[in-house]
Amino acid sequence: MTPSKEILEYYDATSNRETRDDLRLAVKLVDDSGVDGSRDDESRVDKSRVAIDCGCGAGSDIAFLRSKGFIVHAFDMEQESIARCQKRFGDDKDVLLSQATFTTFEYPRASLIVADASLYSCPEDELHLAWLRITASLLPGGIFVSSFLGPEDTMASPNNNNEALWSEVWVSTQKQVREMLNGFEIH
Ligand SMILES: C[S@@+](CC[C@H](N)C(=O)[O-])C[C@H]1O[C@@H](n2cnc3c(N)ncnc32)[C@H](O)[C@@H]1O
Repeated sequence: MTPSKEILEYYDATSNRETRDDLRLAVKLVDDSGVDGSRDDESRVDKSRVAIDCGCGAGSDIAFLRSKGFIVHAFDMEQESIARCQKRFGDDKDVLLSQATFTTFEYPRASLIVADASLYSCPEDELHLAWLRITASLLPGGIFVSSFLGPEDTMASPNNNNEALWSEVWVSTQKQVREMLNGFEIH
């Protein structure tokens, strides 16, 4: 499917955007934490340096994570996103790209899972399964970093036209997010 003009503009505008503070903090927490990154003898991968970028868009977080030494598995449901990232990171064997959704992606074990500005576009009836898959893939001591969309956000307004970008909008209260993160330490 051809992406809308708005999606193309969004990818153009964000491909080299500044890294968000929450992701910088998440990387620092991984560095400071005791993630069990013991090498898997078969794959010879140090999993404390494996990250997943969920809904990777134009790839700016992939670039940041690679600069911090992570092997990055990234997925997005938009073919346009994956095509752009293939062009951008095609020569880098430590960037593994898939066109997939939150529920079809095959999550590897990872110390860091990023879902910035994407999890709230996961269809609500898929959220439970997506969350099960994400939490199962996170190593003990690992970090999940995400943004959520509260009821006061303009995108939550009934007058907002979300059709041009990603039409699904999961609006969550702080209470709901805290319930979802039950068992996690929140930073
Ligand atoms: C607002 S963009 C954010 C892109 C990137 N994370 C960033 O922060 O620059 C949301 C991205 O999530 C992707 N996306 C939305 N719903 C998705 C889903 N259910 N499964 C996978 N990707 C999804 C979109 O295609 C889009 O690339």
